[in-house]
Amino acid sequence: MGTKILGTGVYLPEKVLTNFDLEKLVDTSDEWITTRTGIKERRIAESETVTQMATEASIKALRDANISAEELDLIILATLTPEKRFPSTACLVQARIGAKGVYAFDISAACSGFLYALDIADSFIKSRKAEKVLIIGAEKLSEAVDWSDRATCVLFGDGAGAVVVVKSDDESDVIASRMYSEGTLEELLYADKCGYIRMKGRELFKTAVRNMEEVCREVLQKAQVNPEEVSLVIPHQANVRIINAMVEKLGIPKEKVIVNIDKYGNTSAASIPIALHEAVKEGRVKRGDLILMTAMGGGLTWGAILLRY
Ligand code: UT7
Repeated sequence: MGTKILGTGVYLPEKVLTNFDLEKLVDTSDEWITTRTGIKERRIAESETVTQMATEASIKALRDANISAEELDLIILATLTPEKRFPSTACLVQARIGAKGVYAFDISAACSGFLYALDIADSFIKSRKAEKVLIIGAEKLSEAVDWSDRATCVLFGDGAGAVVVVKSDDESDVIASRMYSEGTLEELLYADKCGYIRMKGRELFKTAVRNMEEVCREVLQKAQVNPEEVSLVIPHQANVRIINAMVEKLGIPKEKVIVNIDKYGNTSAASIPIALHEAVKEGRVKRGDLILMTAMGGGLTWGAILLRY
């Protein structure tokens, strides 16, 4: 028995905020942002709430998977910008898509949230507690950004991605995974008392490259797969230089790596499902491919998943 990705969907707000727009807001430049991060523009939710973005992405993923909301057993939503303290955003989405009788909850693992959610979904499926699971990464980071802090406000964007995963009997499966948390490194990336994102960028950069490289190696070793056998890497989109440094250390060519940070910036928990969706729709993923996903974020949290699509 395996865990199979059956459908994907995204919601991206229409409003585009370019680096040139940011030049008018803070002391920055398109040149600085592009060369240091790879970001050219990001999407900003205006009227949309995080629940609405998550709901839209979910409806599209369910349609793509050809599954109705009533068939779902479980909804896991990853976000660091929940709509309310409670109920969970997962419950708010559950009501809007009409998923009756499900088990729904949010998880808080910042940028690693989607991988944590996929890992939990895989465990539920393999322990026979669920057969059809909706996992969502959704963020309205524009509300968590201090728009006067040039060190962070240029980095983030809004959006949502959803994935339907199901029990399957074919070769598709989550082959190996490993998640980590290290709360002693909280000060590298956290929300301050006002809820604004604060980070020690330079230190975080080095930690991100090292941790993601190591956890990818651990997962590949667990699965007895060589880096050359990986068809595609779908990394969290925090900085193109982090992605390039990490895959170079793994010996995986850039052609096998999905990068869309130029269009959306860092969308935290939404970044991997959005990148996965685009990779599938662009025909860059075929059934049977080996896909390596990795992320690191506030917590710190980090992890990697190797799956056969
Ligand atoms: O998603 C969770 C994981 N997130 C990450 O892993 C993010 C990791 N960190 C990074 O991606 C990078 O560290 C940043 C993109 C955040 C920053 O890039 P950097 O190359 O590490 O720059 P820095 O923080 O060392 O700053 C270099 C200079 C500083 O000026 P001085 O001190 O050299 O005079 C900053 O004040 O760039 C300055 N700076 C800016 N200049 C123009 C910082 N932000 C900006 C800006 N525009 N927006």
